[in-house]
Amino acid sequence: MKVTVMGVGYVGLVSGACLAEMGNDVLCMDVDAAKIEVLRRGELPIFEPGLLETVRRNVAASRLHFTCDAEEAVRFGTVLFIAVGTPPDEHGCADLQHVLAAARCIGRLMTDYKVVVDKSTVPVGTADQVHAAIAEALAERGVEVPYAVVSNPEFLKEGAAVEDFMRPDRIIIGADDPQAVLHMRALYAPFQRNHERLVMMDVRSAELTKYAANAMLATRISFMNELALLAERMGADIELVRQGIGSDPRIGYHFLYAGCGYGGSCFPKDVKALIRSAESAGESLQVLQAVERANERQKHVLVDKVLRRFGDDLAGRHFALWGLAFKPDTDDLREAPSLVIARDLLDHGASLAAYDPVAMDEARALLHDPQVAYADSPMAAAEGADALLVATEWKEFRSPDFARLRRTMRQPVVFDGRNIFSPEIAREAGLEYHGIGRPPRAGAPSTPPP
Ligand SMILES: NC(=O)c1ccc[n+]([C@@H]2O[C@H](COP(=O)([O-])OP(=O)(O)OC[C@H]3O[C@@H](n4cnc5c(N)ncnc54)[C@H](O)[C@@H]3O)[C@@H](O)[C@H]2O)c1
Repeated sequence: MKVTVMGVGYVGLVSGACLAEMGNDVLCMDVDAAKIEVLRRGELPIFEPGLLETVRRNVAASRLHFTCDAEEAVRFGTVLFIAVGTPPDEHGCADLQHVLAAARCIGRLMTDYKVVVDKSTVPVGTADQVHAAIAEALAERGVEVPYAVVSNPEFLKEGAAVEDFMRPDRIIIGADDPQAVLHMRALYAPFQRNHERLVMMDVRSAELTKYAANAMLATRISFMNELALLAERMGADIELVRQGIGSDPRIGYHFLYAGCGYGGSCFPKDVKALIRSAESAGESLQVLQAVERANERQKHVLVDKVLRRFGDDLAGRHFALWGLAFKPDTDDLREAPSLVIARDLLDHGASLAAYDPVAMDEARALLHDPQVAYADSPMAAAEGADALLVATEWKEFRSPDFARLRRTMRQPVVFDGRNIFSPEIAREAGLEYHGIGRPPRAGAPSTPPP
């Protein structure tokens, strides 16, 4: 099948490459000429495990192409994916300007039947807006060309995006048009040979499903983060509580980790957007509002611990920060808790040495502060530090040489924002260990009640 993907970000590029991998002819288009240039050179504008090989393989097989030319892109595919960004606007609503610009562009240039697929995460009712934007552009041209608009939200996870796209848990298709349904079934058939993964529904339900999934996951995280704060006060260990409740199949182990808050390009903006679109529909989502507030607070929890340990004035103090990306295996820094942690430390007068396996260039541009140095290894970042803060659970951080770490640091103090270390092993090695929701000793509250 001939497929066009508009937008070569994390979702568009992965979708395009994986659809090409299944034998489709795919043209990826982006308005960002620099990104297209990078791709044409055989490199990637983002870091995503396994993606470079998939892109190179399919470019070499002439199934995957890149362009900035909108006319070429719209003419090329029968199925046109819109995979552009939907960042929050100043009120926290999803900003649909890129989606609607792509829709108008399709309407201005299409000459034959198209299945237009909203893959971007968009509020309920957006497919109607996309439909209207295309209709308006066609009317301006005075032509009638048949088309259908389908909702096909994406559930891939950055860091495992290729694997998730190739072996999806489910494929949500919201479509009313029978011909469009046939195209979508054909396109996704190779991804579900093992068993049916397509969940067909109406367009509005599909649009809401994506927000519901992210909102549920964010809720689990904020719930555990709040319980972690309580566990600290009560002398319980949230890691044991997590295992205790995760064993219940109704709860499960996934997404129950306490930490220093969720970030990334999806949860924060999607939670906000769902709250806002509920408000405009006359509903007030109490649970989600609390989820968002709890997460904002959680991003400051690690530095609050630092201030309790070292005092409010951190002038002359130097800290190591391990991990900048919002989660492991990505270079994405959007809404990363590490940025809040770094700013909190800087605001209190501290200096930092940060290390991340892939996200340091991006962080340099975002933090842009002479008090932040970037080290070329975790151990180099820890050199002479008063304390180490862990903000991202990269695998390479999980089992450090604790004895060497203790010798390298000025003071052997660790604030583990992702609970990746065993407190016993760290303490055994002579480190002062502070985790999230973990008391200094089992059965002893780490924070005295106020
Ligand atoms: N990143 C994720 O993990 C993820 C997962 C699921 C869903 N989503 C959703 O998918 C959408 C895209 O997310 P992303 O992370 O890939 O975004 P991104 O910011 O990485 O990429 C978006 C791309 O769209 C391009 N673009 C903007 N306007 C365009 C236009 N008119 N025509 C062509 N290209 C255009 C931009 O230049 C950019 O390269 C968002 O709605 C997001 O919420 C993201």
